[in-house]
Amino acid sequence: MTQHHQFDAIIVGAGGAGLMAALHASKATNVAVISKLYPTRSHTGTAQGGIAAALANMEEDHWEWHMYDTVKGGDYLVDQDAAEILARDAIDSIIELEHMGLPFDRTPEGRIEQRRFGGHTAEFGARPVMRACKSADRTGHMILQTLYQNCIKQQVRFFDEFFVVDILVEDNVCRGVVAIEINSGEVHVFHAKATLIAAGGFGRIFSVTSNAHSLTGDPVASAFRRGLPLEDMEFFQFHPTGIYRMGILLSEAARGEGGVFLNDKGERFMERYAPTLKDLAPRDMASRFIYQEVKEGRGIGGKDYVYLDIRPDSINRYKSAPGGRMVTAHELEAKLPDIIEMMRVYMGVEPMTEPVPIQPTAHYAMGGIPTDNDGQVLYDAKTKVVGLYAAGECACVSVHGANRLGTNSLVDLVVFGRRGGKAVAEFCQTADFAPLPPDPEAEIVAELERIRTTEGTERGAIIRDEMQKIMMDNVGVFRTAEMMQAALTKVRELKDRFTLIKIDDKGKRYNTDLLETFELGCLLDLAEVTAAAALRRNESRGAHYRDDYPARDDDNWLKHSLAYRATGSSATVAKGYLRFGERPVVITKFEPKERKY
Ligand code: FUM
Repeated sequence: MTQHHQFDAIIVGAGGAGLMAALHASKATNVAVISKLYPTRSHTGTAQGGIAAALANMEEDHWEWHMYDTVKGGDYLVDQDAAEILARDAIDSIIELEHMGLPFDRTPEGRIEQRRFGGHTAEFGARPVMRACKSADRTGHMILQTLYQNCIKQQVRFFDEFFVVDILVEDNVCRGVVAIEINSGEVHVFHAKATLIAAGGFGRIFSVTSNAHSLTGDPVASAFRRGLPLEDMEFFQFHPTGIYRMGILLSEAARGEGGVFLNDKGERFMERYAPTLKDLAPRDMASRFIYQEVKEGRGIGGKDYVYLDIRPDSINRYKSAPGGRMVTAHELEAKLPDIIEMMRVYMGVEPMTEPVPIQPTAHYAMGGIPTDNDGQVLYDAKTKVVGLYAAGECACVSVHGANRLGTNSLVDLVVFGRRGGKAVAEFCQTADFAPLPPDPEAEIVAELERIRTTEGTERGAIIRDEMQKIMMDNVGVFRTAEMMQAALTKVRELKDRFTLIKIDDKGKRYNTDLLETFELGCLLDLAEVTAAAALRRNESRGAHYRDDYPARDDDNWLKHSLAYRATGSSATVAKGYLRFGERPVVITKFEPKERKY
């Protein structure tokens, strides 16, 4: 029996963006948060190094410098009106979090302490600046706990471990969502005036990723399946310092505190590529230069990794800590406790005396569901979707352009989560409930039943491995037309095989076999869009680097891409599976320039 609920607003996802939106929306309207995880298990909790804001607590800083770094870091594909909001509002968002009780690290004078991070500079690129506010290397964990406690205090209603499987958009109006209660397998229809999606990323399309197993982009795929576009999907960020082969994140804060990269010759190679920022160059560049070293035979032992060196002796020898000051092991252990522990536990390396093997890891989707600056979802450059909002990694505001700067994702969550929450509350004051279609759950329930009961020949684990491998090998840090075409062809073959899938658990309760298979279907859709969008963009920009088009091409490609599921004869691109539209980039203060660090 389907259960029915009605709320003015529903929020899908209980990470930083969802909780911030819920807190603000619930001040003025009746809100429920639906999350497939228990809220404090959301992936925001794994964000490590910091949250940027030009507080100027350690040295001179200004929101204009932060805005400039964000625009340049994003290789000028950033919408600059959004970047201005991010950089300005970051400052009072941090104060708001502080007043909610977030335990930031403090200077001896009691101010919020800040550290350096990649691509954040003073005086428009002149030198690194300390802009990242932090709680050791557990900043995301502290944000998540603080927001959740405040939501509980404000009596926000939570539906924990409810898996959203469909977003009810018809005639450009969102009417709510369909979810499965994981514990019972029961179907729930949530009817709402406004729905805000804050469901995180989809790094699980790649084999080496910092993303949790749950980051499978289900609501992003659901929006796409309902005819909505996905923006700038060709831009997927690889974070330079994943634990070799495992992909687990080792925060960029390690380099903010003075850590450096070394190649097989023991050379600090980033000095050659980025003479001003060196090891603190933005992630797209650092990841590319690591692989450049590997390609040229200077990977460690000729293999596909380099070292991250945080030995205090090395940092002191290079004078690479902020201001060139001396550091001690004790100080590094206090500032980076979690990642030092991870290096010891997962790698068996003692980072105070040995360098650590690292490799770029798939980390962050710059693309996602397109929105305006208040989180309202866009159908195209001119049309908005009534009652549908998105915020956080699943959304594309677009504030990160072609490459996000480290610590700007936590800012994005709180700044645009808050704006989205307020916009939802305002919308609900005057909006009516749009009617639900008859049997709103019928279509998705039929699809889940098909997966549950098919006696096919294919196994999800095998399809998942093949998808992740081809995406990692062919749509990763370096790309060519041939590689991306091969990936697209393979993903489409895997989609065909997915129709013949067989699962073992035929039950209803806690059927993770079923839900993980549903997640795989979503990942396949998102992998297809990522590969097709990348294949279409004939230039290199930010995280999208093509060996066959190595230059940025502003004349032809200074624009956002919008990928749609093809419908009938309107399909124009990608062999009838997808069609593409475009949206101009908003440029206000900073004209595109060559990007040097
Ligand atoms: O390196 C890090 O701590 C990651 C931060 C981020 O992705 O913003």
